[in-house]
Amino acid sequence: MVSRVIPVDLFDLVIFGGTGDLARRKILPGLYRRFCAGQMPPQARVIGAARSELDSEGYRTLVREAIEEFGGEEAKACDSLDAFLAQLEYVTIDARGEGGWKELQSLMSGTDHIEAYYFSVAPSLFGDIAERLQKWGMADERARIVVEKPFGRDLETARALNKTLATYFNEDQIYRIDHYLGKETVQNLMAVRFGNMLFEPLWNSQYVDHIQITVAETVGVGGRGEYYDKSGAMRDMVQNHLMQLLCLIAMEPPARFDPDAVRDEKLKVIRALDPVPAYHIVRGQYQAEACNEADNPGYRTAVDNPRSRTESFIALRTQISNWRWAGTPFYLRTGKRLADRASEITVVFKDTPHSIFGEDAGRHRNVLSIRLQPNEGITLGVTIKEPGPGGMRLIDVPLDMSFADALKEDDVEHVDAYERLIMDVIRGNQTLFMRGDEVEAAWAWTDPIIQGWEARNDVPKPYDHGSEGPTDAVELLRREGRAWRSLTPKTPKRGA
Ligand code: BG6
Repeated sequence: MVSRVIPVDLFDLVIFGGTGDLARRKILPGLYRRFCAGQMPPQARVIGAARSELDSEGYRTLVREAIEEFGGEEAKACDSLDAFLAQLEYVTIDARGEGGWKELQSLMSGTDHIEAYYFSVAPSLFGDIAERLQKWGMADERARIVVEKPFGRDLETARALNKTLATYFNEDQIYRIDHYLGKETVQNLMAVRFGNMLFEPLWNSQYVDHIQITVAETVGVGGRGEYYDKSGAMRDMVQNHLMQLLCLIAMEPPARFDPDAVRDEKLKVIRALDPVPAYHIVRGQYQAEACNEADNPGYRTAVDNPRSRTESFIALRTQISNWRWAGTPFYLRTGKRLADRASEITVVFKDTPHSIFGEDAGRHRNVLSIRLQPNEGITLGVTIKEPGPGGMRLIDVPLDMSFADALKEDDVEHVDAYERLIMDVIRGNQTLFMRGDEVEAAWAWTDPIIQGWEARNDVPKPYDHGSEGPTDAVELLRREGRAWRSLTPKTPKRGA
């Protein structure tokens, strides 16, 4: 494997919520993989901070188990776990009280390391932690804080949160994570759009018929029912992940690939989004798997709320009111317990203005599809002559660029979104993080949509486990003469 790893500067990373699910599944295994790749300097420290009464040795045992369970193949192959664990410390901390803060302060003093504080805790604790960091002298100019979603649950709460954080930190010290921005292909989207001459001239409403953004999952809400039922697909996925994808696909070319230039352009897209009327929204809730209700219960059972009206699926149509995109529909769709796990952006180009091959040649359109996961890659559907005798018959074939094939799997270092984003925090690069005004603008667009269905007492439509969502979602496109890209895998897969 060709390694292009450049070690980062010395850092101390404090993980509030260091024993929690996200830390165990993503943050710590990600750090270990960076350690194995030689990116984490030997004197860098990772300090877990949480309520649990543990000492550093106990924490190392917890982290060892987490990495063995969630570290994946690369972590297993690395064999440096003891060395990594030796760089870990732990402090029992009371986020709302005073316990543990003196210990943390003394751990953090006396070095000139970069200080990063990862708030992997409920948003209700963000303010308390920020305040105590300042009180104990840790909110200095070397400090960066990383905050997880959900960043508020509407415009008002997001504004309040931004205001609280701004009391203690400057905007360039605040890293709001959206892990979709750390995904390899999401970054590739920018490379494809702005590194090639081919696409840009066609990238507008004159040539693009419509754009689809799909993030489909086969998993249900799992053990996160309590959080999810208060959130739903709109807040959990559309306001952040799908919105970010929409921005990257629709934004104007920034003058430079630097944090504010990129984020300024994304912000303009969000602010130009049209409101979404009720007839352009379809909400759904999954039902139990017919033959296996015990293992795969319906949404309401999973969240333990028999009267829940929260959506586990949403499809909607929106438009961007600017010169580039006026009149081009953007269809967004995301949901749980669907037929397949697939995250994809599809750009469907318009018909040729005139078919020289006559009516019989049928309707053929170029389709550019960007697959984020699984099997990252880009496919461009082109129309060619069907080989063989019998005149001019046209067929559509894919020009397929699977990144794994094109780049030879073994030569590619796989970097998980969290790994990349944490290293960006240490490097001080905010390009792949959301700015406060971006988050607020996204809520400003989302809020009236949610308020609309709440006022209408809208009940989500049921959909089958393993399906493509409610039939109304199909109808959303069909009535405009369009169709979603199929989610149904060639070989049907079971849930989770
Ligand atoms: C999270 C959502 O932000 O993203 C989850 O809260 C969702 O509900 C997850 O399952 C999807 O992420 P990924 O990386 O698996 O596509």
